[in-house]
Amino acid sequence: MRYLTTPIYYVNDVPHLGHAYTTIIADTMARFYRLQGEETLLLTGTDEHGQKIEQAAKTRGYTSKKYADEISAKFKALWDDFGISYDIYARTTDARHIAAVQAIFTAMYEKGDIYKGEYEGYYCISCESFFTKTQLVSDKQCPDCGKETNLLKEESYFFRLSRYEDKILKWYEDCDPILPKNKKQELVNFVRTGLKDLSITRTGFDWGIALPKSLNDDKHIIYVWLDALFIYLSSLDYISKGANTRFFPAHLHLVGKDILKFHAIYWPAFLMSVGLPLPKHIAAHGWWTRDGEKMSKSKGNVIKPKELADAYGLEAFRYFILREVPFGNDGDFSEKAMMSRINSELCNELGNLQSRLIGMAAKYSNSTINSSKVCEFFGVELAECKEFLSNALNFLEILQTNRYLEELFKALSLANSSISKYEPWGLIKKGEIDKANALVALCANILARVALLLSPVLPKSCAKIAENLGFDLNTQNYKRLILGDELINFKAKAACDPLFVRVEKPLLKTNNEILGENRQKNSQNKGVIANETKPSVAIHENSVNLAQKSEKIKIDDFKKITIQIATVKHCERVEGSEKLLKFILELENGEQRQVLSGIAKFYEPQSLINKQVCVLTNLKKAKIFGIESDGMILSAKSGDKIVLISPQELVESGSFVG
Ligand code: ME8
Ligand code: MG
Repeated sequence: MRYLTTPIYYVNDVPHLGHAYTTIIADTMARFYRLQGEETLLLTGTDEHGQKIEQAAKTRGYTSKKYADEISAKFKALWDDFGISYDIYARTTDARHIAAVQAIFTAMYEKGDIYKGEYEGYYCISCESFFTKTQLVSDKQCPDCGKETNLLKEESYFFRLSRYEDKILKWYEDCDPILPKNKKQELVNFVRTGLKDLSITRTGFDWGIALPKSLNDDKHIIYVWLDALFIYLSSLDYISKGANTRFFPAHLHLVGKDILKFHAIYWPAFLMSVGLPLPKHIAAHGWWTRDGEKMSKSKGNVIKPKELADAYGLEAFRYFILREVPFGNDGDFSEKAMMSRINSELCNELGNLQSRLIGMAAKYSNSTINSSKVCEFFGVELAECKEFLSNALNFLEILQTNRYLEELFKALSLANSSISKYEPWGLIKKGEIDKANALVALCANILARVALLLSPVLPKSCAKIAENLGFDLNTQNYKRLILGDELINFKAKAACDPLFVRVEKPLLKTNNEILGENRQKNSQNKGVIANETKPSVAIHENSVNLAQKSEKIKIDDFKKITIQIATVKHCERVEGSEKLLKFILELENGEQRQVLSGIAKFYEPQSLINKQVCVLTNLKKAKIFGIESDGMILSAKSGDKIVLISPQELVESGSFVG
């Protein structure tokens, strides 16, 4: 049973890259546990009380509740849009949460862990956190976020945090709950310097949970962190003892390093106070910056997760943020780094393996992949793959997503390099049919294993791979292929679309570009740019950009053009070019023509043989890449795809189009 949580995010601002990062890691882990067959519960939600929210609402002229409703809905809409597999979307303004927090407060009070006193010290509204003068930076700034603190002097209820010092240290020692492990020492040092009792109520503003009625004290509201942390419990029907209480305690609280202290010190102390079990792991990741700078609204460099996902595709985005940064370290976002990972890893390793495999299987064995001879010919490669996968699993357990992905991609590159090394087309020529087929089966089994393990990160792409190979991404297959290392047979599809499209230039728009586009919108009839990636290169070196034509022509002008239907006799990639395919086309009376076309990203050469295409045949000859091209194959640009144009039914080679 696995209960996973993200922080519940403050509603003082809309979601950004940092929030998406935490949530996507949590989603990935939840998907991974589900794949393993574990009963899993993922919680996310919003933290809506406190002075910070009250101020944010006021400055916008909203009531706190209305403001919280609006921003909370934005977080939820983003997670829904991203397909985050949360089970509970919790809000601290939910009635059951409020009742639970009051019950907890009463329990702590009755235990003697709460007393009334006076608080004097500094408060950071942005972090909703108390500090002593000695903790401040340059006299008045918050040591965590650097913002200015306020001196507070007010009546307050205190929680006897000091009572729990030794117990917390013992918990760190006995249970080793903190990830990454190197974060533990900082906490130990902090606790060892002595924990002061914690102020757990505030006065002077209203936006928070009232004290339990039994205390008969309406001057105070409950401190927002005591309120917020108990969402992890209140959402499990703490009061009504509903069915999902059994998930408690959490297997994993995933947080950013900014709020580790609250989760690794206050939270366990609160839980010990009310006699509840402590979480298994608290994992703190690092901080995202952009091009080396802290993201902030004033700098205008905040990354909006939705914009990023729209530009590059959600899956590429998920892959990049999990792959780029070692868990726990700070990470820098740059489009250049993202493009490079998309092109060299998602396209060249993952996408390429799928296309090569589907193509070879279609050609050599009518897409039936039989694995009976893999051990005989490729035992060494199998063992190597097994090693990579077992390393990967070990890394994921400790949330090292970057190392996890690195190991999975080692397995993919093993498959790709085996194809280059053993050259199945050569084996076929030499008559070593069994070995060629075993190689295809080796690669299919590697790809299937990687697709299973990669599916928590790239759910949609892996589902496509599974569909193309003809197997299911389910727990049973996880057990057979990953745990059991079983080899399976496949009945693959005859052809497949490319999984990812290369990105040649940055796709996030600058403000100026957006403005310019808006101006142009009415004057230009543009096609829809679809989700994954936008075409960013001229597709055919000698193609005309049809979208830009404007001048009207006479029928005589049109008559100058000769378009014919040709049958593809031969098609192959042009060595050294990622875009070009070289065609031998048949026209009338068996005439053959060599034509190059920049559609290699969209079609497997093999899949085009015997297909009919439309060709501009009276175009001046051109040399591309030193190779002669005599004509131009016509295609339609649809969203991010280039699609060849063919006649509705077979026609004679060379038929004229007009
Ligand atoms: O702290 N890089 O909410 P919050 C990486 N309500 N992660 C980032 C980030 C960045 N630049 N910015 C934010 C709160 N995060 C409390 C939590 S839980 C009981 C209460 C992520 O909206 C990261 O996970 O300030 C961080 O811990 C969290 O957002 C803080 O979100
Ligand atoms: Mg914050």
